[in-house]
Amino acid sequence: MLLLGIETSCDETAAAVVRDGTEILSNVISSQVDFHKKYGGVVPEIASRMHQEKIIPVIKEALERANVTLGDIQGIGVTQGPGLIGSLLVGINTAKAIAWARQLPLVGVNHLEGHILSCFFENNVPLPIISLVVSGGHTNLYLINAIGNYKLLGKTLDDAAGEAYDKVAKLLGLGYPGGVVIDRLAKGGNSSAIPFPRPMVSEASYNFSFSGLKTAVMYYVKKRGDMTYSEQELSDIAASFQEAVVDILVQKTLKAAHEYNAKAVAVAGGVAANSRLREAMQQEAERCGIPAYFPSLILCTDNAAMIAKATEHRISQVAAFPYNMNARSRWPL
Ligand code: KG4
Ligand code: ZN
Repeated sequence: MLLLGIETSCDETAAAVVRDGTEILSNVISSQVDFHKKYGGVVPEIASRMHQEKIIPVIKEALERANVTLGDIQGIGVTQGPGLIGSLLVGINTAKAIAWARQLPLVGVNHLEGHILSCFFENNVPLPIISLVVSGGHTNLYLINAIGNYKLLGKTLDDAAGEAYDKVAKLLGLGYPGGVVIDRLAKGGNSSAIPFPRPMVSEASYNFSFSGLKTAVMYYVKKRGDMTYSEQELSDIAASFQEAVVDILVQKTLKAAHEYNAKAVAVAGGVAANSRLREAMQQEAERCGIPAYFPSLILCTDNAAMIAKATEHRISQVAAFPYNMNARSRWPL
């Protein structure tokens, strides 16, 4: 089946054409990050206006790159939530208009299911798995026995891991978004230079907490006083902070894998692009005798190929045109 995926939940306007849920014919992502940078984070009003400008050109480009026309498309999937309401509505209304005009089945997709399934494009993932979805908005740990059957084992009780990266980067004057910059800086740093805490790491629950870690970095910076750091010092702070985040994520994920006899672990979402997380999770999983799967970098960030993939296995359940489909800012999977 040839499906068009549309994603506008945050600050990426994305469209993709995917065949049979496996073959990505195009995956177009237009990022607004440069427009939000100067505000230090995503401004919802700006995000929805920019989606409105970009959505049609992005869909057009996705069709062109896939070398297909709207007439070839057999169904549409659009992110229905969770995310920013104004942003989601742009994607939903565009998808509704196209689906209505073309009389195509339309599926409202949960963004988190999209992230989870992004791991399944390039890997033959055995089930059951433990899936860690780690992004700017979420840090969720799931047990997956079958596609479509997601049991939430734990989640962050405060900041998401990506949010902690972004806040720490801001504290250090590194700009927004912070994940990539900290990842790069940390490569030259000593990860045991500063013993930052690992909140909740040894608790029995699978929940996470990152705000205390962010506060620990804030106190370190305040105590240090002078905000002029040498490159080495900055790298040491970045590496020590990152090691704490990675430690927590790896330990909790593998503990769950052990408890539930998972055949593999899979990590998805923006923070899954983190080089140290990829390395440490692979190493530790290997030590436990199971593989760790990550999507390629382009599929870690918000994209519409993952939305089309999630659409593939839900589209047979579509009965009537979903006139009343509405954006859901919160939508637990
Ligand atoms: O999944 P995503 O694109 O959007 C959300 O749904 O949130 O994730 C964005 C988050 C941001 O917080 C960003 O700083 C983080 O992912 N991120 C990274 C890296 N690349 C992006 N965090 C750590 N290391 C990276 N290399
Ligand atoms: Zn996301």
